[in-house]
Amino acid sequence: TIIVLDFGSQYNQLITRRIREFGVFSELLSHKTTAEEIKAMNPKGIIFSGGPNSVYEEDSFKVDPEIFNLGIPVFGICYGMQLMTDHFGGVVEPADKKEYGQAFIDVQNTTSGLFQNLPEQEQVWMSHGDLVTKMPEGFTVTATSADCPVAAMANEEKNFYGVQFHPEVRHSLNGNDLLKNFAFEICGCKGDWSMENFIENEIAKIRETVGDKKVLLGLSGGVDSSVVGVLLQKAIGDQLTCIFVDHGLLRKGEAEQVMESLGGKFGLNIIKVDAKKRFLDKLAGVSDPEQKRKIIGNEFIYVFDDEATKLDGIEFLAQGTLYTDVIESGTDTAEVIKSHHNVGGLPDDMQFKLIEPLNTLFKDEVRALGTELGMPDSIVWRQPFPGPGLGIRVLGEISEEKLEIVRESDAILREEIANAGLDRDIWQYFTVLPGIRSVGVMGDGRTYDYTIGIRAITSIDGMTADFARIDWDLLQKISVRLVNEVAHVNRVVYDITSKPPATVEWE
Ligand code: XMP
Repeated sequence: TIIVLDFGSQYNQLITRRIREFGVFSELLSHKTTAEEIKAMNPKGIIFSGGPNSVYEEDSFKVDPEIFNLGIPVFGICYGMQLMTDHFGGVVEPADKKEYGQAFIDVQNTTSGLFQNLPEQEQVWMSHGDLVTKMPEGFTVTATSADCPVAAMANEEKNFYGVQFHPEVRHSLNGNDLLKNFAFEICGCKGDWSMENFIENEIAKIRETVGDKKVLLGLSGGVDSSVVGVLLQKAIGDQLTCIFVDHGLLRKGEAEQVMESLGGKFGLNIIKVDAKKRFLDKLAGVSDPEQKRKIIGNEFIYVFDDEATKLDGIEFLAQGTLYTDVIESGTDTAEVIKSHHNVGGLPDDMQFKLIEPLNTLFKDEVRALGTELGMPDSIVWRQPFPGPGLGIRVLGEISEEKLEIVRESDAILREEIANAGLDRDIWQYFTVLPGIRSVGVMGDGRTYDYTIGIRAITSIDGMTADFARIDWDLLQKISVRLVNEVAHVNRVVYDITSKPPATVEWE
């Protein structure tokens, strides 16, 4: 393991990311982590991340100074290097001119330390307003650039290293090799971390935490909760109970698929709650999008509560919280971007302890984990699906007939996109029912029927999106099928707005 201590740089997730890609486990921890806590984790190396502070400011982030006495190699990046400088009696001052962007460094020694086997001249990425102006005791300069006399430094005897640039950013062309030098040559990591031993370790950890107690999991059918379910099942078998709420707003075949695959093949103990009527009753006559979302969200919690209360002796609640959720929920340095979703509103007398086995993983690592656990692509590569489900794809007031139109049309769209081999290229694709009716002609008769909207987008994270450039011929094929096969549809339109200004969903 290599521990990365977080001083608030926007790039700090990337550091752990890169190191994991080398097969070395890496974790981002608060800069408040003490030397004692670190010692207990027995890491091979410690990295101090960059950060927005200046070390000479009074309330700037500090580290436990005992960390330097652990005998573990330390690598400071940007602010991390300045922090080391300050600690060992050097001086950091504001630079005359801030350096941001591409820079070139001259390396002094390419036979040992961070730069071993790297070129003598390197393109790197700088982003700093402070400079080391007096070297700390025991350190020598190992690289310089035109605007930065101490672009890198080292105390090789003690295995302390620092760089002013950001090796974790792709614009630092040899940054990966430099991080590898730290991990393998300096820290002596082996690079044998993989999903396989992640599973092994995690199962052991879960068994130790849970003991002979019982665990509850809310299954949504999405990737994260499904992977948690299968992992827990492997670890504790029947001590796990899952609740799967069918709110009647799922896609065609979805509930059956969850029950067959997770309940059948993987043997999860699932309580399926058929709550369709409850939801539709509550939604009757409601057309305001926000009100619909609130009703669905609240009803979900009520149903979950009702079922959970019936169960005895549950001590733990499992959740599919991801690493990014943890980070976005606020660390000691980062601002809170959004709070990660808990099963909110559970009654006070149900005091669950949380188990979050995915909270050190990124989304694509969760997918790899699912595959390693033997889960099918249809779950592992499932496209994002909103909690309120088809309830926000029937615009305005919901009825069973309208839900059926969206469900059928969505199934046809999914089938055609899969047949065209585009199901992993297009980030998300679905149909909506705007509720408008228009005049058409079918056979020799006039029709007055519904319009279906197709939404298909490319995106990285759903925050911004562009409409997918689906081939006209494929769109035509889909259009023909929708009109012919879905009752009460006589017109199909394609949504060509990006996000922003539109959103992905229509409500
Ligand atoms: P919007 O419509 O906000 O959608 O541009 C962005 C992404 O988020 C999904 N989405 C939701 N996911 N609960 C969810 O779990 C929700 O209430 C919700 N609303 C939208 C949407 O499908 C898209 O992927």
